[in-house]
Amino acid sequence: MGEFSITIKGLSVLRSELSASDLQLLENAEQVSKNAYAPYSQFFVGAALRLDNGTIVLGTNQENVAYPSGLCAERVALFSASTNYPNMPVSAMAITVNTAKSFITVPLSPCGNCRQVIMEYQHKQKQPIRLILGGQGDIVWIFEDASALLPFGFEADYLKNS
Ligand code: THU
Repeated sequence: MGEFSITIKGLSVLRSELSASDLQLLENAEQVSKNAYAPYSQFFVGAALRLDNGTIVLGTNQENVAYPSGLCAERVALFSASTNYPNMPVSAMAITVNTAKSFITVPLSPCGNCRQVIMEYQHKQKQPIRLILGGQGDIVWIFEDASALLPFGFEADYLKNS
């Protein structure tokens, strides 16, 4: 028997401490969250990706009366980037939420399905995706590598024939 533990390395910063480019990406996510189609949850999520060529790709959550048919903002943005810029690596992704229902002081953390999808593209492009997670308060969390959020994720190696 052996015990093990993992350490998740992230950075908690105030909005005012963000670099100009991180702040710009977060503002893009905030701005686009207004376009979320979230009549059921009233939880308006915005995601903004910065690609290596400087292009910004945006996404918002899209809900459906048949609940599982909807999709999170992160996946809308990533699938759009993969469709329109298939070989252009994603260098950073900012995510944030706006909702009148409650005041989210801690940054929004992507759901498990989105983490899995983020990791798929991170593996494909062989370079880390920097995550900038915002909320409705002043605190922003930064992770240099998206893998920090998905320890023990399901990876392609499991499907390899030995
Ligand atoms: N949602 C996102 O878009 N991203 C997340 O990281 C968490 C949840 C959406 C899905 C649904 O439309 C609403 O937020 C409430 O779960």
